[in-house]
Amino acid sequence: MKFNSLHEVLTDYVRDLYSAESQLLKALPRMAKAATSPDLRAAFTEHLEQTHRQVKRLDRVCADLGIKPRGKTCRAMKGLIEEGQEVISSTGDPAAKDAALIGAAQKVEHYEIAAYGTAKTFARVLGELTAADLLRETLDEEKATDERLTALAESGLNQEAAEEEVDAPRGDPLAARTTEEFDEPDEDEEDVEETEMRTGEDDDSDAAAPTPRGETPGKTRRRVDKTVTRRGR
Ligand SMILES: [Fe+2]
Repeated sequence: MKFNSLHEVLTDYVRDLYSAESQLLKALPRMAKAATSPDLRAAFTEHLEQTHRQVKRLDRVCADLGIKPRGKTCRAMKGLIEEGQEVISSTGDPAAKDAALIGAAQKVEHYEIAAYGTAKTFARVLGELTAADLLRETLDEEKATDERLTALAESGLNQEAAEEEVDAPRGDPLAARTTEEFDEPDEDEEDVEETEMRTGEDDDSDAAAPTPRGETPGKTRRRVDKTVTRRGR
């Protein structure tokens, strides 16, 4: 990469943002689908619509600057979306998963806030006031989305906390919830999970791997794990 002028740096930023927003167009529907809270789902769905408008706004920025929008992949957004996908695929308590989805989305927003903020400043320094104004519009929207997610995180966790028994442990309203609220794994599953926590192994990859006909994935290991676990009790 070689930069000869601030205009080239701004071009790089705008293209990076174009790639970031385009990637988000594909990720946000999956985030919305994974959310349990109707408010969180609505926030993701509305931000998806907003993101469509932001891409069009970047087209106008590019037209104004006389540059092409394509030609770069935002690797930071790719990584953030990969992390988000891990949350989307996660299991467990729905409220805890919603909290993790909020966290993943806020990491995305913070990246965008940083990138739009810098791009807007560069455009202003270059005297590209129309582009600067367009970039500021999106920056304001990203900030508002971030604040909305913070409000959702606070209201969600407070609600969970309010549902708690008075004598529940303090500090983690989600962890303190009664176990009956969760889908309990069967005893064998529990043994495997406990062992995995201790050994750091993860059974997920085994579950997806093809196995010879008639053989249950992870069956042999599970039997061994159970023995180990029970011996340890
Ligand atoms: Fe955006």
